[in-house]
Amino acid sequence: MAADKRFPCYLVRKDDAGAVTAGVEIIAADELPPDDVLIDVDYSSLNYKDALACQGHPGVVQKFPHVPGIDCAGTVVESKSPQYRPGDEVIVTGYDLGAGRWGGYSKFVRVPAEWIVPLPTGITLRETMIYGTAGFTAAQCVTAIVERGIQPERGPVVVTGSTGGVGSLAVAILAKLGYEVTAVTGKQGVSSLLHHLGAAKIVGRAEVADDSDRPLLAARWAAAVDTVGGRPLATVLRSLQHRGCVAACGLVAGTELPLTVYPFILRGATLVGIDSAKCPRPQRLEMWQKLAGPWRVDQLEELAEVVTLDGLQDRVKEILAGEVVGRTLVVPESTKVARR
Ligand SMILES: NC(=O)c1ccc[n+]([C@@H]2O[C@H](COP(=O)([O-])OP(=O)(O)OC[C@H]3O[C@@H](n4cnc5c(N)ncnc54)[C@H](OP(=O)(O)O)[C@@H]3O)[C@@H](O)[C@H]2O)c1
Repeated sequence: MAADKRFPCYLVRKDDAGAVTAGVEIIAADELPPDDVLIDVDYSSLNYKDALACQGHPGVVQKFPHVPGIDCAGTVVESKSPQYRPGDEVIVTGYDLGAGRWGGYSKFVRVPAEWIVPLPTGITLRETMIYGTAGFTAAQCVTAIVERGIQPERGPVVVTGSTGGVGSLAVAILAKLGYEVTAVTGKQGVSSLLHHLGAAKIVGRAEVADDSDRPLLAARWAAAVDTVGGRPLATVLRSLQHRGCVAACGLVAGTELPLTVYPFILRGATLVGIDSAKCPRPQRLEMWQKLAGPWRVDQLEELAEVVTLDGLQDRVKEILAGEVVGRTLVVPESTKVARR
């Protein structure tokens, strides 16, 4: 690609006084940091972590200026790696994309070859980004429950943050596998969507907000996918049936975990931590095979809302306020015109 080829990207900047600004800019190809493979990006997605990056959050962004976008899917344009050739359709999720390195909110991105996953058979680039890191994380959470030997006959599985990206996809995958899913949500008017995804029961957040200091609560759940952390995670852990399992990935409700050891030593509870960014490659490929095949979510398109780079700022505010339902597909285009 010509070094002076110009294209839109979403840049987060910090000035000398520490003020962070973010918006669409037109940059030239030679401004992209160097790396093995250049990808022409068709789609990215918006995850909670991306929203933090768009605000310049120090827990995500390591240096400025920065391009967020922890996910991308597109076509290889140039490759220094023998593994990939121009024209290959590929996806990248996690690693340092959109965190320590420039990410997918850009028409072009350069990445290390080892981060790339070839597009699995049976799924489109668009569908991979409706899943994005959220779907990839949901698949890991469900895998943790299945690997713990918890079959659908064991009883209900609860999902917190159930209308969010990870939550909605976890509800759909669990239901597809035959689990009886209880969806926890703080939103009104989402019952029909959650039932459509396969939830058998829908409850409000108060159901997982026990603030007593009781070490154990009534045993309700065979397993849980917790996307919110904090007191809800502690409540769910204290409410597990004997030998139950919680797969925990999120922190939107808090980072503290007010808990005793009793769920572990009296009920044999398992708490599995999910870290998608650094998921080892064999498991990474396995998750994508599941998402493209046997675990495929049939309602994917219904969960997707599309924004261009111009619409990102508003959507970021919504996800940080916990208001987004489902997934946001990001198309790296802008009404700002790139010359040449
Ligand atoms: N560990 C990993 O590898 C990994 C990977 C992906 C995501 N995550 C984490 O998982 C979490 C979810 O990510 P996401 O992209 O799915 O975000 P999201 O789309 O914003 O979903 C989060 C959902 O949590 C619920 N929620 C929001 N604020 C809440 C609060 N104060 N108390 C209780 N529930 C609240 C809302 O659902 P309802 O309105 O339905 O309750 C919201 O839609 C985030 O913390 C993210 O950082 C971690």
